[in-house]
Amino acid sequence: MRSDHHEAHGEFAPHPLIRDRWSPRALDPDGVVPTEALLRMLTAARWAPSYGNTQPARYLVGPRGTDTFDRILALLVPGNQAWARNAGALLVACAQLENAKGPVPYAEYGVGLATQNLVLQAVAEGLVAHQMAGFDAPGVAAEFGLPGTVRPLTAVAVGVLGSPDLLPEDRRDRETAPRHRIPLSKLAFTQHWDHPFTTG
Ligand SMILES: Cc1cc2nc3c(=O)[nH]c(=O)nc-3n(C[C@H](O)[C@H](O)[C@H](O)COP(=O)(O)O)c2cc1C
Repeated sequence: MRSDHHEAHGEFAPHPLIRDRWSPRALDPDGVVPTEALLRMLTAARWAPSYGNTQPARYLVGPRGTDTFDRILALLVPGNQAWARNAGALLVACAQLENAKGPVPYAEYGVGLATQNLVLQAVAEGLVAHQMAGFDAPGVAAEFGLPGTVRPLTAVAVGVLGSPDLLPEDRRDRETAPRHRIPLSKLAFTQHWDHPFTTG
């Protein structure tokens, strides 16, 4: 995993799985995502926590070379299509907003938790996973026959990291630019709002 352009994680660097996750666009067009890896990623999603164990996350899964891959790709916005076509698999994470008991509380939160599990398992597999809001959600619902109670939330490109040289120049610069985060002092408070728990 290339990490030279990543901001230093500092004194409190998290687990390597979290440290090494990022959202690259340069994907190896020959990269293979083994079916077993996809199944482990989906199992990681399956074991995510959810409100009352309601398990709202659902996935459309399209390995490259399948009709499902092509249909998801066609529904991405052009800016995402340009790089995501080199993915080894394209997924769409969906929320089951209602079940037999009625509306599912925290359904989108649950899909976020499940999808982060999926993404981190991808990192553990030596793969990369890049989430996208840039796709035609109503188009996905129509194309794949989703029930009205299910909402597509994010597409996920899973692949093998490729060289930034694969990208057009403007994209290449963004790919290799330093990644930034707000400091811990703006994220975690104690005593009252805005009073930093710790500086960082
Ligand atoms: C809900 C969501 C939607 C996103 N949509 C897109 C997208 O449409 N296209 C894209 O290239 N990246 C997209 N991203 C990736 C973010 O830009 C990226 O996660 C963020 O800049 C932080 O960078 P990092 O993931 O490399 O740490 C999305 C991420 C999330 C979580």
